[in-house]
Amino acid sequence: MASVIIAGVGAYAPERILTNDDLAKMVDTSDEWIRTRSGIRERHIAAPDQACSDLALIAAQRALADAKVSASEVDLLIIATATPDYPLPSTACVVQHKLGVPPHATAFDIAAACSGFVYALEIAYGQLLTGRYKCALIIGSEKLSSITDWSDRTTCVLFGDGAGAAVLKKSDQDGIGIIGSDLGADGELAEYLYTPAGGSRCPASPKTVEEKGHFLRMKGKEIFKNAVRVMETVAREMVEQHHLSLDQINLVIPHQANVRIVEALAGNLGLPMDRFYVNIDRYGNTSSASIPLALDEARKAGKIKPGDYTLLVAFGAGFTYGSTLIRW
Ligand code: ACO
Repeated sequence: MASVIIAGVGAYAPERILTNDDLAKMVDTSDEWIRTRSGIRERHIAAPDQACSDLALIAAQRALADAKVSASEVDLLIIATATPDYPLPSTACVVQHKLGVPPHATAFDIAAACSGFVYALEIAYGQLLTGRYKCALIIGSEKLSSITDWSDRTTCVLFGDGAGAAVLKKSDQDGIGIIGSDLGADGELAEYLYTPAGGSRCPASPKTVEEKGHFLRMKGKEIFKNAVRVMETVAREMVEQHHLSLDQINLVIPHQANVRIVEALAGNLGLPMDRFYVNIDRYGNTSSASIPLALDEARKAGKIKPGDYTLLVAFGAGFTYGSTLIRW
């Protein structure tokens, strides 16, 4: 049986770093509050002239180089983002052109917020298995600083900018690559985390700008509880479906929203924290970029070895959620 492997991974975070102390000069907060409540020390912020596609492009070039694949070989390009360059066209089309992916490729964006990367993985995995496509490039890229209200201390301390990418290919080797993938969504809770204006429900107007309707709004406590509950469920289900025990998972890469969410998840699953890859301290929450940024770092740090099982678990606005089980 054929499998789908992750042939290469790459990531990019913009140069500028905004520390907690910098934020304490902008809003009524402190390094101590942010660190103890979220685990974040600093985050990367894109330059004013850098858009989502610019971050995505660099991460994609690095993933292609890692996979030793040229852009001309890519026939499926998916970008997961909540902060596209434009409402239309898709950021995937912008990246297709800048990267030199041939026009016969399929290119589109998906909107699944923080779960976007595992959503893109599932779509690419399924499409490669059908034989319709040969080489997929999937990217999670976010300029969350562009939808953050920098005067609201309850949200602005949490988010950062960045991008991560992976190249997926079919392999003849059985039992490696993506072993399983599962997604879910619960739109009943859509307004727990959303940007109220700028879409068709509430188009941009002087009033929406005045009301700061284009910025992220969230119910932090409710998101926290749901994130822990849902990520525990999807992690358990994925491991059970594949007749494994949690103990056999060498590394869990969770969406990086809050280190306390990861600690609660680890406690509920009965796994030690050293089984979880955490880099939220240096990036904050980068939504769809958070899992591929962490995956890239974990690989470079030698935390993933041939034969290892890695479990990706995500949760985000929508609500959306999902998990991917990978064997290297
Ligand atoms: N600095 C100082 N004080 C603050 C700040 C701040 N930056 N933000 C809030 N406070 C205050 C509040 O006003 C509140 O004061 P009050 O008690 O006088 O009203 C107090 O601190 C406690 O606030 P809580 O909201 O209860 O703090 P909590 O411990 O719940 O932590 C947090 C808040 C960090 C937002 C947490 O709930 C969280 O991380 N939730 C998940 C949010 C999330 O992940 N969102 C990302 C998007 S979705 C996703 O990625 C999964």
